[in-house]
Amino acid sequence: MPAIAIIGAQWGDEGKGKATDLLGTRVDYVVKFNGGNNAGHTVVITDASGHTEKYALHLLPSGILTPGCTPVIGNGVVVDLAVLFEELEALEQRGVDVSRLRISANAHVIADYNRTLDKVTERFLGSRRIGTTGRGIGPTYADKMNRIGLRIQDIFDEKILTQKVEGVLDLKNQVLTKIYNRRAATVEATVEELLAFADRLRPMVCDTGLLLNEALDRGETVLLEAGQATLLDVDHGTYPFVTSSSATAGGACTGSGIPPRRLDQVIGIVKAYTTRVGEGPFPTELFDEFGAHLSKVGAEFGVTTGRPRRCGWYDAVIARYAARVNGVSDFVLTKLDVLTGLDQVPVCVAYDVNGVRHDEMPVNQSDFHHAVPIYEYLPGWWEDISHARTFEELPANAQAYVKAVEALSGARISAVGVGPSRDATIAIHDLI
Ligand code: GDP
Ligand code: IMO
Ligand code: MG
Repeated sequence: MPAIAIIGAQWGDEGKGKATDLLGTRVDYVVKFNGGNNAGHTVVITDASGHTEKYALHLLPSGILTPGCTPVIGNGVVVDLAVLFEELEALEQRGVDVSRLRISANAHVIADYNRTLDKVTERFLGSRRIGTTGRGIGPTYADKMNRIGLRIQDIFDEKILTQKVEGVLDLKNQVLTKIYNRRAATVEATVEELLAFADRLRPMVCDTGLLLNEALDRGETVLLEAGQATLLDVDHGTYPFVTSSSATAGGACTGSGIPPRRLDQVIGIVKAYTTRVGEGPFPTELFDEFGAHLSKVGAEFGVTTGRPRRCGWYDAVIARYAARVNGVSDFVLTKLDVLTGLDQVPVCVAYDVNGVRHDEMPVNQSDFHHAVPIYEYLPGWWEDISHARTFEELPANAQAYVKAVEALSGARISAVGVGPSRDATIAIHDLI
């Protein structure tokens, strides 16, 4: 029975939350397998009476909004415990049942010193900064790889937790005080802050890898929901302008404990244009009135930091790359409605790098920095498409745009988004 991954195919904010929520009604488990509260997923739910509820999720998997679905925070996630309980309480106050949440004993914990280090490192880097979300993500993953991280299970053993914090602060306090001129963190305060969550956390914690594999054995459906995206993946993204986790389909396996052979389907979420938050190369970025149009009509402001997202045309080179890296079986093309009202819609089909055409991502990062898009210009449409619910209801030019993007992007487009709400979706092929 199926394990399905949902992956961002660009630089994030493609609409993964909406897609997960949409499929959530048909799955038994939704697993967040990477990242932490650097993610920001907006889910808009309109009920039968027309009442609309909007949720902004950071750390919790979007499946938490679906009654009957079990949300899971996998081992690949880094957890800010204060944010976890804030989010849970806010949802409970809105009547969402959060009691089924399960958290991996092996997930890592974001300690206060790593939030500090994230911010001061960025300041120190100045013009070379990454533009991180400042949530402590990078330093926490660095500790994990450096084998000095704190895990969820450590919170339940004060002696072990204290030993680990003592060890890590021996090192961190040198950096905090001598390089960044910050106050040292104390062992007592750090341990106390984390222990305060232990009792509330205990009932949620288990071997989530076992839980999910047993669910698959029973024939249940597991949806693996990525935070961030392919071009932000630490291995496959535009390094060093990336996040610090594995946001691609391989990460879905390592971050959940579900083996690759059990993954049946990989759904790539791709916007009908491109956005990026933070620093780093972005070949199709627009600095003109068209960029302003996408930003305004698409409401392109970050859910996590409120920063304006950089906007540009659809880039089929990175979509093909994402299809390859993840083994995308289906794309969901989101926010097609935002392209309404343009005379023509450019699509980047290849790059020109110093006079040489590249149909694939240049192997060298410097070449990618210098890539100039080669555009194909498709005719636009002016009709309001936000009420279309079948492919045939789209104007001919919008249909042609979807078909052209599909032909260029390396996998079939199985659904098209025409608005933020759960129901504002055109299904083309069954996703599950
Ligand atoms: P995620 O991080 O990939 O989950 O995406 P975000 O939630 O950060 O950003 C996507 C934004 O686009 C959210 O505000 C969604 O409500 C919105 N959205 C998703 N799909 C569509 C769509 O098809 N049309 C429009 N207009 N908005 C959409
Ligand atoms: P969702 O899941 C867009 C970006 C940051 C920064 C870089 C590194 O909503 O798609 P980090 O704090 O992770 O060390 O920052 O990654 N970034 C995102 N951009 N969407 C996200 O998540 C992001 N998560 C991180 O802006 O450039
Ligand atoms: Mg987002």
